Amino acid sequence: MSETLERWGSKRAFILAVTGAAVGLGNIWRFPYVAGENGGAAFLLIYVAFVLLLGIPVMMAEILIGRAGRRGPIQALGALAAQAGASPNWRWLGLFGALTVFCILSFYSVVSGWSIEFLVASINGQFNGASAAEIGAGFETFLANPGLLIFNHSLFLFMTMTVVAAGVSKGLERLNNLLMPLLYALLLLLAVYAATTDGFSTALAWLFLPSFDALTPTVVLHAMGHAFFTLAVGACALMAYGAYMPEEQSLPKAAFAVAALDISVALLAGIAIFSVVFAQGMDPAEGPGLMFVTLPIAFSELPGGAIWLSVFFLLLLLATWTSAINLAEPMVATLQGLGLRRSISTAIVAFSVWLMGLLSAFSFSTLAEFRPLFGRNIFELVSSIPPDVFLPLGGLLIATFAAWVMPHNAAVSALGMGERGYRLWRNIVRWVSIPLTFIVLLGGLL
Ligand code: PFF
Repeated sequence: MSETLERWGSKRAFILAVTGAAVGLGNIWRFPYVAGENGGAAFLLIYVAFVLLLGIPVMMAEILIGRAGRRGPIQALGALAAQAGASPNWRWLGLFGALTVFCILSFYSVVSGWSIEFLVASINGQFNGASAAEIGAGFETFLANPGLLIFNHSLFLFMTMTVVAAGVSKGLERLNNLLMPLLYALLLLLAVYAATTDGFSTALAWLFLPSFDALTPTVVLHAMGHAFFTLAVGACALMAYGAYMPEEQSLPKAAFAVAALDISVALLAGIAIFSVVFAQGMDPAEGPGLMFVTLPIAFSELPGGAIWLSVFFLLLLLATWTSAINLAEPMVATLQGLGLRRSISTAIVAFSVWLMGLLSAFSFSTLAEFRPLFGRNIFELVSSIPPDVFLPLGGLLIATFAAWVMPHNAAVSALGMGERGYRLWRNIVRWVSIPLTFIVLLGGLL
């Protein structure tokens, strides 16, 4: 397998692609509900610390490997391991990444399907004048209808896989370019609206005044998992994008920019959502339905709310779309690396993810009580174990490979920070990121 000559069109295109991968359900849907279930401010604080100490350095490690290897993850790891005289088994890390994104995409597509449903519902004005209780009950009824969930899951996966089959086009880069600022603007608007509600100060206190009473190793594990999840790190998905990174681009700058953009989306969403939660006397630990219930409630009270809500769900859909494309890419690249054509690889991935997604779709009705592991049903399993365990484990191995195994010169030149910058980064990864990930993972699992 020879090196790829493809490159992102510009530095900006690379940052946008990685931001597109990072900003998604993780920020707007998952962060608020996981923080809600794990005590708020303490969770936020630890998660931000993990982004700085692990997320950014490991993101750099991951992109660096892709950039130095200039191939799909499995081939890049294999080639660099051979160059370093290390075990060829390192390439299986690419396969583990593919397994991780497979599990994640299966539930990701189902939840993104919810935003399609909600987009249509808000365009139809279904939330107009509805009470908080009615909106909550409507969501339950929706979840209990597997046919509807499967329809939307299929539609979302179809959208994703069509773009992947065509190759991530300039069109998507441009779309992202245009729409990300709009998503920010809307979130800001929502946060400003949130400031006018009664719940605002409670929300701020809840998000920013940590109380460490409820802190357990599991909460810390969730926070770490979420740091990896939200940055799209640990599944070799960014490695695949790094392979097309322009020669002259600064990797650290790109990583910091993406992390900053990513955290700010989560914060804005958190402020907006929790203000409504507290203003309405709802439970912050409401779980996966949190955003889908709070936002329609918030918007139903705003002038022109139905329009804003529709625009919001549209942008959310676009944000999840670009993340889903990133989730699919390493699997498709892996199959392609085995010699299959891109169209066939995409079809195989699409069909298997679709099948797996059915299990998540049925987890709210027929399979709700099918709890094969840890008392959790399939949706609960695939939306927690791969993000909380597989991503940190993958990240740990990626970091180990980049900081301990990779040939020195290849790493220095792919990082592009000179010898001193490289040593600084390597020391952080070796002595902070790797041990910390290991300890938290072990603590959380035990
Ligand atoms: N970062 C994405 C989000 O926050 O929604 C999810 C994600 C994408 C996770 C790609 C992992 C990944 F490889």
